[in-house]
Amino acid sequence: MKGLNCAFRVTAVALPLEILLLLPGVSGRTFTVLNSCNFTIWPAVFTDLSVGTAVPDVATGWEAAPGSSVTFSVPDNWKSGRIWGRRDCDFDNANPGPNSCLDGGCNGGLLCDPHTGTGVPPATVAEWTLDGDGSRDFYDVSLVDGYNLPMSIANSVGCSVADCPVDLGPNCPSPLKGPFDSNNFPVGCKSACVADVDGNPQNSPNCCSGSYSTAATCPSSGVQYYSYFSDNCPDSYAYAYDESSNSALWTCNSSLAADYTLTFCP
Ligand SMILES: *[C@@H]1O[C@H](CO)[C@@H](O)[C@H](O)[C@H]1NC(C)=O
Ligand SMILES: *[C@@H]1O[C@H](CO)[C@@H](O)[C@H](O)[C@H]1NC(C)=O
Repeated sequence: MKGLNCAFRVTAVALPLEILLLLPGVSGRTFTVLNSCNFTIWPAVFTDLSVGTAVPDVATGWEAAPGSSVTFSVPDNWKSGRIWGRRDCDFDNANPGPNSCLDGGCNGGLLCDPHTGTGVPPATVAEWTLDGDGSRDFYDVSLVDGYNLPMSIANSVGCSVADCPVDLGPNCPSPLKGPFDSNNFPVGCKSACVADVDGNPQNSPNCCSGSYSTAATCPSSGVQYYSYFSDNCPDSYAYAYDESSNSALWTCNSSLAADYTLTFCP
């Protein structure tokens, strides 16, 4: 790799900067995270470092005022990465870490811990693996851990949009509804697994666990309230094996080097 970089730099001297910036595969991808909600949220970024060590060039968490956006570069080989939003956070209180927010909070507080800072459900999660199997980017909007904010993933090269663009809180089935903010407004809607509706998380058709741990033994028909999520957000990933819906997990040819925009409250 070192040799390659050297060779490239020698050639590069003759090329204007603008052309260099357009060369695919050189500078990674540009991601933008836009808060179109009319309230403050706290976006968070997590990379499963057991899958790959490349990480985005951005903090693992920040405060996003209404209408604000943050743009950053992401390596072409980002694997098993996720971005989500946290609601109603207060990092000054006596509860640093996961309980600083009504939902989506993480170990670490404002900055999510790089090793353990995944979000507390319920949380809508945008997921990526760039340059995965078959030289494809994989991405989705996951409701597997429930819902806490509407979001959409758009891209610069005309691949499909993944989204859950509607507020699933107000009409959420009551066993799943919540948590609630100080106005008693539901800022989340749990999945049947997260809500532990069947009381047996170790062996549950809602969680695809135990004897239900494969796609064949965990059909969507066995997941309680699946249709609430899939009917309202058909282009999201609504339970652990939702690939079969054909509108859950999206791909984009990696050679197109797509840039991605994640919009909260699109
Ligand atoms: C945000 O918009 C919603 C729906 O239009 C409205 O009910 C709510 O009062 C607004 N909130 C703020 C903080 O402006
Ligand atoms: C991706 O795009 C490249 C370049 O256009 C092409 O050679 C390749 O066949 C495409 N791969 C797929 C899976 O479509």
